[in-house]
Amino acid sequence: MDINIGIAPKQREQIATSLSKVLADTYTLYLKTHNFHWNVTGPMFRTLHLMFEQHYMELAIAVDGIAERIRALGFPAPGTYRQFGTLSAIKEDDGVPKAEDMIRRLVEAHETVARTARSAFAVAEEANDQPTCDLMTQRLQIHEKTAWMLRSLLE
Ligand SMILES: [Fe+2]
Repeated sequence: MDINIGIAPKQREQIATSLSKVLADTYTLYLKTHNFHWNVTGPMFRTLHLMFEQHYMELAIAVDGIAERIRALGFPAPGTYRQFGTLSAIKEDDGVPKAEDMIRRLVEAHETVARTARSAFAVAEEANDQPTCDLMTQRLQIHEKTAWMLRSLLE
């Protein structure tokens, strides 16, 4: 059946494309956070190991909501590492960074997702797509708050 929710097909496609980038960034940040949970060392081990666990669990749930919004708009959600590698703006890591560098890289990655979500919000707002605007607002709050908390560890 055709989708008739009051958003033109071309606009639904543009929103789905923007959301695919948010999904790829979020999934890549999920993996980076899980990686750092496994590999962090040093005097802050316990704090960071547990904090990273809270963060990757939130991200694992978040990707589902983003992918399902893409589906509700009538488009396939990307779901392979190859697609995520092409779509994501977040840099992957070589080797195991020192704990402080992990925090810096996570701040940068949360800020990257925030910028990508902000672009998706603008595309959705233009199309009068309130559910996507709402979802992007929620994601922006999480990523900007998490970036602040991580940044505070470095002061
Ligand atoms: Fe664990």
